[in-house]
This record gives sequence, structure tokens and C-alpha cells, in this order.
Amino acid sequence: MTIMNKEKIWLVTGASQGLGLTLVKTLLTRGFRVAALSRSADVLQKAMGTDGDNERFLPVQSRITDEDSTRAAIEKVIHQFGRIDVVVNNAGYGLGGSVEELTDRETRENFEVNVFGTLNIIRKVMPYLRAQRSGHIFNISSIAGFTSINGAFSIYSATKFAICGMSEALATDVKPFGIKVTIVAPGAFRTNFLTPESLVLAQNPIGAYEHIRATHLQFQQWNGQQPGDPEKAATAMIQMAGEAEPALYLFLGKDAYRRATLKNEAVQSELTKWEALITGTDF
Ligand SMILES: NC(=O)c1ccc[n+]([C@@H]2O[C@H](COP(=O)([O-])OP(=O)(O)OC[C@H]3O[C@@H](n4cnc5c(N)ncnc54)[C@H](OP(=O)(O)O)[C@@H]3O)[C@@H](O)[C@H]2O)c1
Repeated sequence: MTIMNKEKIWLVTGASQGLGLTLVKTLLTRGFRVAALSRSADVLQKAMGTDGDNERFLPVQSRITDEDSTRAAIEKVIHQFGRIDVVVNNAGYGLGGSVEELTDRETRENFEVNVFGTLNIIRKVMPYLRAQRSGHIFNISSIAGFTSINGAFSIYSATKFAICGMSEALATDVKPFGIKVTIVAPGAFRTNFLTPESLVLAQNPIGAYEHIRATHLQFQQWNGQQPGDPEKAATAMIQMAGEAEPALYLFLGKDAYRRATLKNEAVQSELTKWEALITGTDF
């Protein structure tokens, strides 16, 4: 069955602010039906304002880090809309610090939300998408999940690299079911991401890493001036969801484009430089 573009049902996690909220609002404006998952129904409802008074909008309170809560949320969406066509795994937060500074707890918590939360959603939606033999999963990574050469966000980068690696394999594994996967790798977008409420920094900073503190300060001072426009990011994702052959990687923003290009060139340069050593290891 071909689902017309406007009939598609979208599910967005982390919907109460930033990219998620902007995407939800943009989708509703364009006539889509949207299930919006958030940890807090109140915060979500407040953020939606009158946009929330819409029969095409389903707010769902859910904790993506909890399997039971995730299962209940997906069942609620299916009960309401009958299907899910586009899933946007957007919920996540930044964590600043070197590997040595971040505790096991801080590290695992970032993986819990950014990686395991995403995996929970994917596990719970997949049976429905497989049965439909269609669907499109957008996993929000980051340009920091493609290149982390600038440092200062070691574990956050690791979580977002994990999203890229998992998503590449997922794309291949679910292709026979007619399901598409797109990794979104935004540069800096003007959301709450860099505010003290969203961005978490190492609780036990080590003096020797003062260069990292300087980088964090730069990022914090950048808050409110990031070049990326969330509405344009939402529009780009909506366009990509309508493509017959969508991109595996959707980099967003000039900064992401530049950093991805530099990374590709650096990798190619090392491959070329060390080709003999690299290729000399086979039997
Ligand atoms: N803005 C950027 O520059 C940028 C760049 C690259 C990648 N990203 C990625 O884009 C996504 C959206 O970020 P944003 O820029 O929109 O930031 P944001 O304004 O801080 O929003 C992040 C959303 O993620 C959810 N979230 C945050 N901490 C969470 C936690 N501990 N547990 C569960 N959910 C949590 C929240 O959802 P609820 O409270 O509604 O549940 C929140 O609405 C994230 O995955 C982020 O890593 C952002």
C-alpha cells in the first residue's frame, strides 16, 4: 500500500523543546499526524500551546530509557493512529568532559539516553514497521558523531558515533522489509542544547584539562548564536522523508558540511599515506 505523504504518521521523541518541538510544530502545520513523546506531558503541553489543540496531535508521556514505558507509548500511538510511518529518535543531551574526568555514572547515563533510549524505541516500533513492510527511521546523531577531532565532548561523541554505526547496520538489516534509515548529523543549531539546563558538564573536572574548560566556555558563549535554524532542519527532514531514495547520512548546516568534508579528506589522506603498511598485512 502506498501511503500518501500527508497521510504519514510521525513519531518524534524528545518533543518538548528544541529540534523535536520545532519538528512536531512544523509537521502539524503541514497537515501530518504526529505522536510526540516527552518525559513531561505538562512541559510538552505548555510548549505546544494552542498548537496542542489538534486532533492530529498525540502527546505521549514516556521515558525512552524504560522499556515498559516505551512499549506502552508505542502501543498508545498504534491504538490512536493505527500505524507509524516515520520515527524520529531525537531525544538526547550533550555531555562535556574528557574520558578521564567523566565518571562511570555520568558516562553510562549519557549512553542510557542517547543510545539505549534510541534502541528501545527502535526495538518497539520494528514489529509494526516490518508488518507494514514500510517505514523510515531517522536517528539524530551529530556532526560530533562523525568527527570528534575538536575534543572536549569525548563521551557525547562516543554516543553519537554509536548511533551512526548502529544505524548503518540497521539500514542494511531492515532494507528487505522496505524500511529506510537516515542518520541526521546536525552542526550547531539554535536550540536549548547549549543552555545549562540541557548541556551537562563533568562534575569532577581535573585542573590539567583547562584547555577543555576553554572549549566548553566557547560553546556556552555560542548559545543563542548557533548558525543552524531548527525550522530549516525540520523542513530538511520532512523533505528527506518524502524521497524515494533518501540519504543514509543527512548532514545539516554549513559547519557540518565543512567538518564532514575535512574528516573525509583526513581519512583519505591517511589511507593514501599508509597504503603500503595497511595493505601489507594480508596472508
Ligand atoms: N542543537 C544542536 O546544536 C545539536 C547538534 C547536533 C546534534 N543535536 C542533537 O539533536 C537532538 C535534539 O537536541 P536539541 O538541540 O533539540 O536540544 P534540546 O533543546 O536540549 O532538546 C533535547 C530534547 O531531548 C530530550 N532529553 C534531554 N535530556 C534528556 C534525558 N536526560 N532523558 C530523556 N530525554 C532527554 C528532551 O525531551 P523531553 O524532555 O521532551 O523528553 C529535550 O526535548 C539531540 O539528540 C542532540 O544531541 C543537537
